[in-house]
Amino acid sequence: MSVLVTGATGHVGRAVVDALVAAGQDVRASSRDTSKLDVPDGVEKVRADLEDASTLEPALDGVSAAFLYTRPQGVEGFVKAAEAAGVRHVVLLSSAATLEPDAAQSRIAGLHRAVEQALAAGSFASTALNPGAFATNTLGWRADIAEGVVRTPYPDSRIGAIHERDIADVAARILVDGSHDGESLALTGPEPISFREQAAVLSDVLGRPLRVEELTADQAIERMLALGWPADVPASVLGAWARTVQEPSAVTDVVREVTGNAPRTFRQWAEEHRADFS
Ligand SMILES: NC(=O)c1ccc[n+]([C@@H]2O[C@H](COP(=O)([O-])OP(=O)(O)OC[C@H]3O[C@@H](n4cnc5c(N)ncnc54)[C@H](OP(=O)(O)O)[C@@H]3O)[C@@H](O)[C@H]2O)c1
Repeated sequence: MSVLVTGATGHVGRAVVDALVAAGQDVRASSRDTSKLDVPDGVEKVRADLEDASTLEPALDGVSAAFLYTRPQGVEGFVKAAEAAGVRHVVLLSSAATLEPDAAQSRIAGLHRAVEQALAAGSFASTALNPGAFATNTLGWRADIAEGVVRTPYPDSRIGAIHERDIADVAARILVDGSHDGESLALTGPEPISFREQAAVLSDVLGRPLRVEELTADQAIERMLALGWPADVPASVLGAWARTVQEPSAVTDVVREVTGNAPRTFRQWAEEHRADFS
């Protein structure tokens, strides 16, 4: 039996592939376009589009557990195909937004909550991973960093930036041991760190000065929309960042509790990703 990793071209999905291979699992990696898959030898490649049910039956055939990205469409097809294949556990990459007090008003939370609920109604075990902000979000600064600047709204917003490999290690552990059925796990990095502090770490690791330029909320929204963010999402993200200027986002010890290892720091992330900024 294999473990299926959907979105194996993604930051987290790709890291889940590595963590499962390191754990000695037979891994099947999927993408909507298998030519984009760059996975270790021995990992099977398969096409799967969560929004095209016809691709899911073959992708799930012979699969005991699956790592799933949240897609707003198509989860019913996935649940049906997983039940038919006899999948025993699905681990979903959800979002901390579903655990926030304003979840009922948040579009991001709503999208993720709907998929969590659809999986919970399936005949297999399921676990939602609910990380806060990813360290990989700073890859969005690359064009500005090339000009020697980091442009961000709320530079003093402090978030528990998490390394994708910590999310992946949690996912892999659960996919292998089938634990945490029915749970939602709030995952964070080890400490709240502001965008300004992240810029300083990147400056240090990259060995070049970076000045921080604060964007207004309107400028930030304009940039997010230009990057293709859905129209109603930027406002809720900016609201969360505004709140964490006053009150840093809470960090949890869940990564350590599940994996036995402390979550990686932003500096570790930056050192591992130095080449991505060159
Ligand atoms: N960024 C954050 O701070 C944050 C915080 C909390 C939660 N999250 C969650 O994490 C996700 C982003 O994770 P990431 O950074 O690893 O993403 P990423 O690097 O952008 O990769 C996204 C993956 O989704 C796959 N995908 C997209 N549409 C698909 C479809 N129709 N069927 C199957 N696969 C599909 C893509 O695979 P192919 O293109 O190869 O098919 C790709 O591998 C967000 O969408 C959100 O749900 C993010």
